[in-house]
Amino acid sequence: ALVYEWSGLTQLAKLLEKRFGLQHVIVVPGDYNDDETVLTLLGKEAAHQFLSNIIGEQVVAVTGGKSVASLAQFLQPIDAKQNVTFVAARGGIGHEMQMQANTLAATFAMQMNAQHRTLFLPEHLSEQAYQAMLKEPMVIEMMAYYDRADCVIHGIGSAEEMAVRRNSSPEDLRILEEKGAISEAFGYYFNAEGAIVHRIRTIGIQLEQVEQCKHVIAVAAGKQKVNAMLSYFKVAPKQTIFITDEAAAKEIAERY
Ligand code: G3H
Repeated sequence: ALVYEWSGLTQLAKLLEKRFGLQHVIVVPGDYNDDETVLTLLGKEAAHQFLSNIIGEQVVAVTGGKSVASLAQFLQPIDAKQNVTFVAARGGIGHEMQMQANTLAATFAMQMNAQHRTLFLPEHLSEQAYQAMLKEPMVIEMMAYYDRADCVIHGIGSAEEMAVRRNSSPEDLRILEEKGAISEAFGYYFNAEGAIVHRIRTIGIQLEQVEQCKHVIAVAAGKQKVNAMLSYFKVAPKQTIFITDEAAAKEIAERY
């Protein structure tokens, strides 16, 4: 019965690959919105995809969130010769220390005996502060890493949930709604057509830099994120490997 189950999931994955034009999709059984243990399956598959794609010297940018955090326990020490550096894809995310990109970059590096670079900055910078930051050596160094990133591991959020999580002001929430923001990734907000409608003003990897990466690993699950997935995958780089759950995949298949 289990074999049959997985073959059904493979079919779903193929359908999503076609629907989104992605390099590879993996669907794990279950519904994340019902059962948080689905995260463990997601993390295991995502870590496997990541580990089997790293060769030699690599710069790996990681975003925050529970989905990306799920890889941590499945990462293994690598040969020191491989010289992997994890970098936080963006400055810190408000209060959630455990889930922010900085913490995950450090945790992943520890798990793999690799290097890491963090960037502790406020989540929202004023235009003036942002311009001043761009001249800081620490920020310049980070941006050089983004430029030569080989791989990105990221989550996809529903715009609404992320704005709330980031303590956005009622004014910002109104703007996001007005602009039709549906999904969020790397601090960019996208509408249903996949157009960028808003961006958080902080130091972080640019979408153009993500597009240049050899490997992009996206991890997101649960029916509640389906609209966000449909929005983000309108613009996702083709080389993306997407790891999701059965509930989300079925819902997408039904709407296909
Ligand atoms: O950018 C999107 C968020 O990082 C997704 O976070 O994996 O905790 O839902 P999550």
